[in-house]
Amino acid sequence: MSRTRRQWLGLFLALFILCLLYRQRRSLNKYHAQSTTTPINEPIDTPDVLTPDIPKPEFQNPDFPSEPPVDKSHDTIWSRLPIRHLVVHSLPPPNQSRLGMPKIQASDSSFSQITTWFQKSRQAAVKEAFGRCWESYKWLAWQTDELAPMSGLPSNGLGGWGVTLVDNLDTLWIMGMRSEFDIAVKAVVEINFETTQSSEINTHEINIRILGGLLGAFDLSNDRRLLNKAIEVGDMLYAAFDTPNRMPITHWDLHRAARQEEQFAEEMASASELGSFILEFTRLSQLSSDPKYFNAAQLIMERLAQMQDLTRLAGMWPVVLNARAEVYDGDFFTLGAEVDSLYKTLAKADMLLGGHIPVYRKMYERLTRTVAGHHLFRPMTHDNRDILVPGSIRVMMTQNGKPRTLLESQVHHRACFTGGMFALGGALFGIPTHRKIANKLVDGCIWAAQSMPLGIMPEVYETVPCASQTECPWNEWHWKQEVWKSVNASPEPDPDMDIDAYIRDHHLPKGFIAIPDTRYNLRPETIESMFNLYRISAREDLLDTAWGMFESIQNTTEIINGNAALADVTTPTEEPVHIDSMESFWMSQTLKYFYLMFSAPDALSLDEYVFNSAGHPLKRPETEWIQ
Ligand SMILES: *[C@@H]1O[C@H](CO)[C@@H](O)[C@H](O)[C@H]1NC(C)=O
Ligand SMILES: *[C@@H]1O[C@H](CO)[C@@H](O)[C@H](O)[C@H]1NC(C)=O
Repeated sequence: MSRTRRQWLGLFLALFILCLLYRQRRSLNKYHAQSTTTPINEPIDTPDVLTPDIPKPEFQNPDFPSEPPVDKSHDTIWSRLPIRHLVVHSLPPPNQSRLGMPKIQASDSSFSQITTWFQKSRQAAVKEAFGRCWESYKWLAWQTDELAPMSGLPSNGLGGWGVTLVDNLDTLWIMGMRSEFDIAVKAVVEINFETTQSSEINTHEINIRILGGLLGAFDLSNDRRLLNKAIEVGDMLYAAFDTPNRMPITHWDLHRAARQEEQFAEEMASASELGSFILEFTRLSQLSSDPKYFNAAQLIMERLAQMQDLTRLAGMWPVVLNARAEVYDGDFFTLGAEVDSLYKTLAKADMLLGGHIPVYRKMYERLTRTVAGHHLFRPMTHDNRDILVPGSIRVMMTQNGKPRTLLESQVHHRACFTGGMFALGGALFGIPTHRKIANKLVDGCIWAAQSMPLGIMPEVYETVPCASQTECPWNEWHWKQEVWKSVNASPEPDPDMDIDAYIRDHHLPKGFIAIPDTRYNLRPETIESMFNLYRISAREDLLDTAWGMFESIQNTTEIINGNAALADVTTPTEEPVHIDSMESFWMSQTLKYFYLMFSAPDALSLDEYVFNSAGHPLKRPETEWIQ
């Protein structure tokens, strides 16, 4: 070899090495930059694999459904992370329904056509409310998690990946805002799940809102870029399942996971956060042809099923679970926060899995038997309404060591999902009494809303349970006595109080003994249940009621940059007091369900889609209906 040639070769080699070093440095920086806010100060070891420069996939024509993924565009540090604790069994999720799945929605002929036509103007009003909020988000908080509507400031409480953006892709599609949808998809494609400002993330919220949002938007639009993003998020969340017992970490330090440190499930996790991965993970496996997501989530559901009758209230799981030791010995059983996602998932998982995995029906039946037997009660109302509301159960130990259940008559707005759960499960599993229960539960939520001066249900209220579900005459003296008892059970008792003055000062409507949390934070559960029940029963009065509710909410929460939560729904006022918060679910669930309520019933039929806990429609497998 000549001297010049050797020199050239040397130069070439040196350049090549420089290039390599530069790329390595860049991929390290990428990971360092995001960890500036983590409390962990030690230097971060990054995965030793370089981040390749990934070509962005081209837009797929939605008319030509795409092939299963073969490209590597969803290759991230998460997909390359080695797994310590492997799942032994690996089965693909069913992708077809078993024969004989029943139809859930009422037949088309039971919905009045005239009514459907009349609903169009209502639907337009909902869309307008959505459009205003979306514009505000776009101008003031684009690509951040949420917009605080009063200050107009963006906030990033959920990982900073733009929860509102992803959460509303399918809403944009459903409301026919296609150009906004295209803009949003372009922004979503840019989200980088390899970096975050948060030291830990809530895997449950990311799962139902971001993964669910991407899958829902993919199922509607067939845009492959969204499925690739969903796989990226799925791979990230999958790393939270890599614990010795394969129970996922819900408040998850993803930086530790990325550094490949050993991780363990938590000693205190909520039932809801553990038990609601199954819908999104199943759909992701069905779409990506990779069974690992489904298997990871299915394993948890089977463990939860094994424990279901061994808790202190057989049929239910306590609010707090020790996921590390798998000990479920809590004594408080509610239908509100921390469990709702798990409970509403059971019948839906059966729908998405085509009825092939019997454990979901069993879990649903055992759960609802306990709920109907213990939690549901008829409140005493001044007009003697035949309604039901869900309370909570505390299991006490008596002196002779026997457990005794105690009904707490506090009702949470979040628990209003139960009406929809009974409606759906009753139709799916053919249990006629569940339809009756669903009607009464939905009427209970409507009663609570209509009892308030603002026509909106507060976060938490307490009422007087009747001794019997069939007969419950109004007794004013008994109500006031319960108010007195409630005040005197508090840390500041006042035995000499003037009850009538107290009731007036605390704006307690007849039948309410306390309103511990007077806020309304724009949550969806009441309209969600009304939507499910309407589609299943075609009960027409629900439409006018829903419209009244929408007006009440819109009239009191609408402000210049969107809609703001209310501080107090119990005070009659011209000028409601707002809170500087517009949770992502206002647009992605509350407004979506109002919009669908006023749609023709074949728009996102419950026979074709199942809505996840964050209101994202996932396509159900092919079904041959028997009618
Ligand atoms: C459904 O699952 C079967 C078995 O895993 C698989 O062979 C088939 O390709 C799947 N069909 C579709 C449409 O995904
Ligand atoms: C809401 O406001 C509109 C327009 O001002 C009014 O017509 C309607 O009666 C109000 N509805 C409720 C429930 O407050």
